[in-house]
Amino acid sequence: MALHKDHRINRHKQQGLSEDNLLQEAEKESEKLNLTGGVKQANKKDEPQENGTHQTKESDKESVSDQITEGIHEENLHKEMRGELFKYEAADWMAPMTKIPKYRIKLAVTNTPIHRWNLPGIPEEFKIFIKRDDLTGSTLSGNKVRKLDFLFAEAVAQGYKHVITGGEIQSNHCRSVAIAARELGMRSHLILRSVRPERNHIKFEGNMLLNGLLGCKIYLVQKEAGFPVNLKPRIDKLKQHIESTTGEKCYVIPIGGSDEVGVFGYIEAFREMIGQGVCERFDDVVVATCGLGNTLAGIAIGNYLTGSHLRCHGICVSGSGDNIIPSINGVLTQLGLHGVEAENIANIINGYCGDGYGLSTSEELDYIRHVCSETGIVLDPVYTGKTTLGLVQILNKTPEIFKGKRILFIHTGGIFIVTDGRLTDMLNNSETVLQQLVAWPNEDILPSDIS
Ligand SMILES: Cc1ncc(COP(=O)(O)O)c(C=O)c1O
Repeated sequence: MALHKDHRINRHKQQGLSEDNLLQEAEKESEKLNLTGGVKQANKKDEPQENGTHQTKESDKESVSDQITEGIHEENLHKEMRGELFKYEAADWMAPMTKIPKYRIKLAVTNTPIHRWNLPGIPEEFKIFIKRDDLTGSTLSGNKVRKLDFLFAEAVAQGYKHVITGGEIQSNHCRSVAIAARELGMRSHLILRSVRPERNHIKFEGNMLLNGLLGCKIYLVQKEAGFPVNLKPRIDKLKQHIESTTGEKCYVIPIGGSDEVGVFGYIEAFREMIGQGVCERFDDVVVATCGLGNTLAGIAIGNYLTGSHLRCHGICVSGSGDNIIPSINGVLTQLGLHGVEAENIANIINGYCGDGYGLSTSEELDYIRHVCSETGIVLDPVYTGKTTLGLVQILNKTPEIFKGKRILFIHTGGIFIVTDGRLTDMLNNSETVLQQLVAWPNEDILPSDIS
């Protein structure tokens, strides 16, 4: 439906109507044709019932029970209870997609709040708000959890006992997979890349601290080449070995949870954002992007399918964002969304990754400290810290790349990277921070430097 609406907008554009009038015109036409777009209908259908569940039709129950496999208990199918499989009900506006997940498991704590963010360094005319996807949980938090709602649903529905995934040594995604797997009674195997993959060189800090506590198996590999060379062959070998020796099925979760199933994490997040009035309240949405750009893809697809007017930006945190557009195009094709190109729905912004993926400059680390001390929001050095500093620089230097002045930043989490050592070193060496420490040896004598 929204697709039709877009086409009608294009037609009006050719007729010379102004941008503002276009949406109104399209809206009127939609109403005449009873094509008011999925948004309104979806909202209605999505309204939670009193008990917090979503309504399911009788006919759906029958078709679901026909497909019940190991791991699905019929009585749980309609309950959004944490860790329980339930039938996923897509919104009407998702209809153009040919591949929609059947099930979901609620791992992410949603809806996440949106609030004003007085980010230091932003020109006065801009209003920045933040969507707190760092609050999708505690140990299991950040953007990855939303994707795991769908990926683990597939694994549980099909009776998998093991999951394999891979990434960098401090991967948020791998830590999230390890936690979710344990919560759901599955075993996880993480293939992690490091520049120093020797056992005695690996420190259990940051995300690795949790991986250590979780008891997951960690396979250390040299970070020498890209994913296909480094990780893919090992993942395939490991899967084959585990399945042949245990007789149990092994589910492979793609790097970063980034595929046509994982992308529903942020397509669904867009649905949540519709309910939060994001389409009316904002002009631009900004998120950290790298690798396959899957979080950005989900938001941009939701925006496109609903015919919403937001401009979706991904600030790239790795040296080259060259893969992002082809990857988003790959997801669009997988979902059957032919005739739409990534470039038309998502704006990739390069040039703000500092020294490169995972590397921090002292300016970035100090900015993270400054933002935290001014606003209470903790950013991480690999993703959200770079993105935020990039956002400030863009708004000062080239604000015209944004559509308007009302900007929503999505905080994608990454909290455990904060404890991987680099911020500790920065704090230990910062004069400003050291001044926070006040010696008070004698309780009768107040220290002189209280402020
Ligand atoms: C905290 C954080 N933000 C953003 C991203 C980027 O997400 P995506 O891989 O979906 O583009 C990641 C992924 O690694 C992440 O861990």
